[in-house]
Amino acid sequence: MTHRVLLIIGGGIAAYKSLLLIRELARRDIETQVILTKGGEEFVTPLSAGALSGKTVFTDLWDMTPTVAGEAEMGHIELSRSADMIVVAPATANLMSRAAHGVADDLATTTLLATDKRVLYAPAMNVRMWEAEATQRNVKTLADDGALFIGPDVGDMACGEYGPGRMAEPDAIADAVQGALMGEMSLDGYRGARPLAGRKAVVTAGPTREAIDPVRYISNHSSGRQGYAIAQALADQGAEVTLVSGPTALPAPRGANFVKIESAIEMLDAVEGALPADIFVSVAAVADWRPATCYDKKAPKPKGAVPPLEMTENPDILATICKSKKRPKLCVGFAAQTHDVIKLARAKRKKKSCDWIVANDVSGDVMGGHENAVTLVTDTGEESWSRADKRAIARQLALKIGEVFS
Ligand code: CTP
Repeated sequence: MTHRVLLIIGGGIAAYKSLLLIRELARRDIETQVILTKGGEEFVTPLSAGALSGKTVFTDLWDMTPTVAGEAEMGHIELSRSADMIVVAPATANLMSRAAHGVADDLATTTLLATDKRVLYAPAMNVRMWEAEATQRNVKTLADDGALFIGPDVGDMACGEYGPGRMAEPDAIADAVQGALMGEMSLDGYRGARPLAGRKAVVTAGPTREAIDPVRYISNHSSGRQGYAIAQALADQGAEVTLVSGPTALPAPRGANFVKIESAIEMLDAVEGALPADIFVSVAAVADWRPATCYDKKAPKPKGAVPPLEMTENPDILATICKSKKRPKLCVGFAAQTHDVIKLARAKRKKKSCDWIVANDVSGDVMGGHENAVTLVTDTGEESWSRADKRAIARQLALKIGEVFS
C-alpha cells in the first residue's frame, strides 16, 4: 500500500533539501503532497516542488478549489485527511512557535491545527535560535502534544556558525517517516495516544571511561548515537526517561533526565539511583574491565620498561539490574558481536536474565556510525530489522516497547 505524506516546506535555506526529501520518499514508495509557506516560496518554487511530487503544490489558505479527492471541502481539512502523516521540513523557529501556540493564520499552520495525524518536525535554524529558551519551550510543547522530531544535526551552517541547527539529511528524514508509518499505521488517530505515558524508563548509552590515572584511561569507540536515539524515542512515546551516559559528543535528548558519568561503577550507581522504573534499556558499551589501581597522580613512565597494567572486572550492569529486587518489568540488552551474532545473543539473553536482546553485528562500521542492522531476540523468537538510521531503529524499538505497555 502506498503511503501519503503531506510535506510542509517552511522558509529556511534548508528548503532545497526538502526537494531531495520528496525524492527519498518516492524511493520508499511514499507519495508527497506539498504545502509551501510564504517563506518557503522565497527559497524553492511551487514549480520545482510540484514537478518532483507530481502533484499540485498548495500555498494559499483561501484557495477553495476542490482538492485531492475532488471533493468540494475546505482545502486544509482535506489535505490533512488524505495524508497518513505530516512532515514539516524545514521546521523554522517561527513555524514551530506558531504551531505550538495554536496560531492558524496561513495554510500550513491551519493544517497543523486541524490535523489528527502524526506530525514530524525537522527543525532547521541558526544555532542560537535553536538553543534559545523560547524555541526549546515550543519544541517541548509540540513534543508534549505528540509531535515527533528529527534533528537538528550538528555541523556547519549556511550562516557560517557551527552547532546544532542543521536540518537532518533527507534520507534520515525519509527513514524516520518510513519507520513511523510502518509502526504506527495500525494505531488509528495516533495523536495523543502515547503508549508510554506514565511509564519510567532508564537508558544507558555511550562508552565508559576507566581511569588509569588522572590523565590516562581505557575506553571504546561507542558514539552513544543508538542509546541517545532510544532515549529520545521513548520520551517521544511519553515515557519519563533517564539517560545515563558515558562521555559522548552528543546533545542531551529533549525531555529526558540526563545523568553524565564516566566509569562503569558510576554508571551502575546512577542506574540504581534512577530505579524504580518500568523499562531498562542497556545500550552502553560498558568496559568489561578497569585498571585494578587508579593512581591519584599521573603515573611516571618507568625507565626502560613497559608498565604492567593489572585489570579487575567491572560490574555487569545489565545482569545486576535484571537480577535485582528492583528489576524493571521490561529489561532490554544489546549484544555487540562480530560473529555468530544470533547464537551468541540468545546465550547472552539467558546469561543476563534480560527479556529482550537487540543483537547487532559490529564487525563493520556500526560502532561510531549512523546506521545499524539489528535482530530482536525475545523469548518467543527472533525478528530481523533491515539496516536503517539508528534513529529509525530506535523508533521501531520504542514502538515495540509501547506495545508491551499499551
Ligand atoms: N553490559 C553491561 N555491563 C557490562 C557489560 C555489558 O551492562 N559490564 C551490557 C551492555 O550494555 C549490553 C549487554 O550487556 O546491553 C551486552 O554487552 P556486550 O558488550 O555485547 O557483552 P558482554 O557482556 O561485554 O560480553 P562479551 O564482551 O563477552 O561479548
